[in-house]
Amino acid sequence: MKIVAFSGSLRKDSYNTMLVRTLAELAPAGMEIEVVSIGDLPLYNSDFDAAYPAAAQTLKNTVNAADGLFIATPEYNRSISGVLKNAIDWLSRPYGQNSFARKPVLTAGVSVGKIGTAVAQSHLRQIMVHLDADLIGQPELYLGPAAELFDASGKLTNESTKELLAKALNALLERAS
Ligand SMILES: Cc1cc2nc3c(=O)[nH]c(=O)nc-3n(C[C@H](O)[C@H](O)[C@H](O)COP(=O)(O)O)c2cc1C
Repeated sequence: MKIVAFSGSLRKDSYNTMLVRTLAELAPAGMEIEVVSIGDLPLYNSDFDAAYPAAAQTLKNTVNAADGLFIATPEYNRSISGVLKNAIDWLSRPYGQNSFARKPVLTAGVSVGKIGTAVAQSHLRQIMVHLDADLIGQPELYLGPAAELFDASGKLTNESTKELLAKALNALLERAS
């Protein structure tokens, strides 16, 4: 089973990117994680629906071929990041070719604060419901404060968070099977 994972943050030391990079070691047997970047996408423009730019088409092909998705979002001003919304918009189009339809999707997010992206993920989940994704409701992955979860090298060291992530990946495996 192939799960495609991406982070909604482009910064070099992003906690959300650290999170998606951790998934492979926590994935249950039979699950392969492919981490992809959404940083090279142009801004969405429906003028290109008839012929997507290469970066957008490549992402769309990768997501279409996946059995499920893992999306890690930062919380920016109580919502998802602009780069993540841009990627979702590309993947949702052209009209009638929505890549999220009936796709198992697990959402997560790390924030430096204690609410752990709960507000951002509430928006993200709303978008996923609209796009008819097969959203995993539980467990919820509201992770933070980030500084207590990762070590200086970017490795996830918090054991209870690792256990929660493993449980969530199992839920995704079951849903996508
Ligand atoms: C523009 C901006 C807005 C932010 N808004 C919030 C917010 O609403 N809630 C929150 O918990 N953190 C907020 N933060 C702090 C982020 O949680 C923090 O920068 C986090 O490290 C971003 O995720 P990343 O490490 O994956 O880049 C904000 C940061 C930025 C740059």
